[in-house]
Amino acid sequence: MEVTKVANTKKRIGILFGGRSREHEISVLSAASVMDAIDRGRYDVLPVGITKEGAWRRIATDLSGLSTLEDARMEQLFAGSASMTIADFDAETDFAFPVMHGPFGEDGTIQGLFEMLGKPYAGCGVAASAISMDKIFTKEIWRRAGLPVCGHTHTTAASCREGFSEEVLRIEAEIAYPIFVKPANMGSSVGITKVFSRPELEAGISEALRHDRRVIFEQTVCGRELEVALLGNEQPAVSAVGEILVGSEYYDYDSKYRGGGTRLEIPAKLPAGVAEEIGKLAEKAYRALDGEGFSRVDLFFDEKQGKIYLSEMNAIPGFTQYSMFPLLWRAKGLAYEDLIERIIELGYERHHTAHHRQPAGRP
Ligand SMILES: Nc1ncnc2c1ncn2[C@@H]1O[C@H](COP(=O)(O)OP(=O)(O)O)[C@@H](O)[C@H]1O
Ligand SMILES: [Mg+2]
Repeated sequence: MEVTKVANTKKRIGILFGGRSREHEISVLSAASVMDAIDRGRYDVLPVGITKEGAWRRIATDLSGLSTLEDARMEQLFAGSASMTIADFDAETDFAFPVMHGPFGEDGTIQGLFEMLGKPYAGCGVAASAISMDKIFTKEIWRRAGLPVCGHTHTTAASCREGFSEEVLRIEAEIAYPIFVKPANMGSSVGITKVFSRPELEAGISEALRHDRRVIFEQTVCGRELEVALLGNEQPAVSAVGEILVGSEYYDYDSKYRGGGTRLEIPAKLPAGVAEEIGKLAEKAYRALDGEGFSRVDLFFDEKQGKIYLSEMNAIPGFTQYSMFPLLWRAKGLAYEDLIERIIELGYERHHTAHHRQPAGRP
């Protein structure tokens, strides 16, 4: 008698986390939540940890029980893990789910690798990831699309070397204090300062230049901080609007990840019609940057002036159970597990569209 072997048709999802950014530990916590939520009846999971040096490791544990930044420390997680090559990853996974924030995770670099491998993956493509990671390009594209952004200008390490005091004078002429000084490519408020005077501006530039060779200067917006989540490829769905109620001067690293009196309010209490307007604007912002899969768009609402400003788009926002992105969907009736499932579906959908370019050949 012939025995038919039932093929294992479960797709294997490679979850990548950690990585070479300041947001390494946060990424581990986000990945722990994603892994916990994936439907194991439908998918197998391969956890791939990337060390702070950039080495790929096969993680033996399922990350469950991690909840604080301290839990997510590398030493414990990577202890006893075997190294892994990109070829191993390619052979052993059907789909890539990067849960990495900041440079080398959210900025198009790893997305480019998935494109090279011809592997379907979660979230924004290469260009949308790279551009949304870059605060200068993001603001320029939105401005040219006629979308509202605050006054801004930028400089480079080279311009500062050539004539630092001239650059400082030019910036002061273009933007009034207080000014936000930020490295163009970063995240988690790393390297950002709010400056009120010339000496502070000079120090702020040096600080930002430690993280990137390009620096953006922004007019301070006096407004409420709002966030909207987008989900979809060509027809993105728009979430509720959430508000960050910050306990400190601004939403800095500590208030983001150590509490610091920060509260999330979902949905934000807004005057009639404003939430709809913000949702529409967030969708335009997502489309302008060619967002796919999912993203979180952050905005300011200056209630006194009745003005809304786009702030930034996060291609891979925080993904813990307590993060704004999944909570915004929950408020719309989409549970965390279903959100993860939808993100995987959207990754496959994009991969299978006729317009998607196929890899020319495999090395
Ligand atoms: N132009 C601005 N006006 C007012 N507050 C700002 C401005 N830019 C940044 N902030 C504050 O600084 C925080 C971090 O800046 P953001 O551009 O979001 O950087 P990151 O990519 O690190 O999240 C914001 O959440 C907000 O609290
Ligand atoms: Mg931000």
